[in-house]
Amino acid sequence: MTDAPATALRADADPLDALKLDGHTAVCGLQWGDEGKGKIVDLLARRYDVTVRYNGGANAGHTVVVGDQKFALHLIPSGILYEGKANVIGNGVVVDPEQVIKEINTLRDRGIAITGDNLSISERAHVVFPYHKSQDVLFDSAVAKAWEAGAPIGTTGRGIGPCYADKALRSTAVRMGDLLKPDTLRAQLNRAVAIKNATLAPLAQLCGVDFDAFNAEQLFEQTMTFADQLGEHITDTTTLLHDAVASQKQLLFEGANAALLDIDHGTYPFVTSSNCSSLGIYAGSSMPGATVKNVIGIAKAYQTRVGGGPMPTELDDEVGDRIREVGREYGTTTGRPRRCGWLDLVAVKYTSTISGATALSLMLFDVLAGLDKLKVCVGYKANGRELPGFPADSSVLSQIEPVYHELDGFSEDITDCQSIDDLPANAKAYVAFVEDFVGAPVRIVSVGPRRDQTLVR
Ligand code: GDP
Ligand code: IMO
Ligand code: MG
Repeated sequence: MTDAPATALRADADPLDALKLDGHTAVCGLQWGDEGKGKIVDLLARRYDVTVRYNGGANAGHTVVVGDQKFALHLIPSGILYEGKANVIGNGVVVDPEQVIKEINTLRDRGIAITGDNLSISERAHVVFPYHKSQDVLFDSAVAKAWEAGAPIGTTGRGIGPCYADKALRSTAVRMGDLLKPDTLRAQLNRAVAIKNATLAPLAQLCGVDFDAFNAEQLFEQTMTFADQLGEHITDTTTLLHDAVASQKQLLFEGANAALLDIDHGTYPFVTSSNCSSLGIYAGSSMPGATVKNVIGIAKAYQTRVGGGPMPTELDDEVGDRIREVGREYGTTTGRPRRCGWLDLVAVKYTSTISGATALSLMLFDVLAGLDKLKVCVGYKANGRELPGFPADSSVLSQIEPVYHELDGFSEDITDCQSIDDLPANAKAYVAFVEDFVGAPVRIVSVGPRRDQTLVR
């Protein structure tokens, strides 16, 4: 494993020295997203050769705070801030070329060098087009109108679901590699745009909104300008990653979204459209199942959710409002206020198990300071009976009654704590309760957004 010098942006101390991780590692969210994955990936990335995104798209918003600078990354891996490290957008990601270019330019303006050497995009990754974003928004509003028994998913509107749907449909899909073949791209866009216009116009009518038909030739021209800018990055990342592993390079996988949003294992249908638990790593990056040795499950010390769907521990009271304000719980991607509630350990135990978490990282612990009592959910009751596990059916989850365990809170400000031993006794008891219940060790406790506000054992 290399430990290349940090860029000028980096602080010298590396709080993760004590973790002593060996082998390829994954960082994956265990709740409904925004757990602080970006912070931990940034901290770990200096110890790894390649940071790899394997799922999702610009629905992700990963915040990295370095000193007084804040970076919001959506598609580019959070390892990008380190000089001399490779970053891969894997085949399982859906790529909005306009958004990647915007991110590249913003980072370059802030002094981060980005070339074909440190950012590679899989030729197999699927392309998000403007019609995917229209389809995303139109579908959610059509559902809101028509689905009396439920609620809209409340997507990020980034075209994620429609792009993955086209990937599965095949005939309307375009991959990043196609951007380098103008004749193929033109034919694909002619076909896709004809089908999208034919299906989206009546949908817009149903929703009572105006619809401007897409023009295939204009879209082609625009995409060709994106292709010019992204050409040096588009490559065979399967070979790149396998060659890297063969030459003893170390990989860090950066999960986007989170396990409760996983299309197979999350709170379906209120999920995103990819396998965003660690289970998506293999298909989304081409690395075989045994590759990943460490899975760091990232969980907030409380629970948040953006968009629709059941959330058993949601607090519609002053504690929920307080968590939202102290934790600044507003979306990195959409700015929407996040729904806040007590830590749901039933859910976290479930996602930690399916993710194969070898360690937990407990985030935003500082936000809970000053609350007299802290509750954690340790069971779900339906019709007076405790459920045996995490229900597959969202309508069941929306009706369960959470069973709480109450712990004493801590009043001390913990944002300057230097070690887990320095935490107040009640805070230590909270951490111990979490790891006992979930059955995985809490090896990182985060007490603020900065990298030096990270306690490790
Ligand atoms: P991600 O999507 O999982 O990368 O998380 P986001 O970046 O969307 O949201 C996490 C937010 O919490 C960001 O604004 C981080 O800067 C911030 N954050 C991360 N860790 C901590 C922490 O321990 N305490 C506090 N107060 N903020 C944190
Ligand atoms: P990061 O990586 C929080 C949620 C959306 C919506 C649902 C489906 O920053 O943790 P989509 O646009 O994916 O079809 O929306 O999933 N969602 C996220 N919520 N953090 C994310 O990513 C999310 N990615 C998707 O709010 O409820
Ligand atoms: Mg986020």
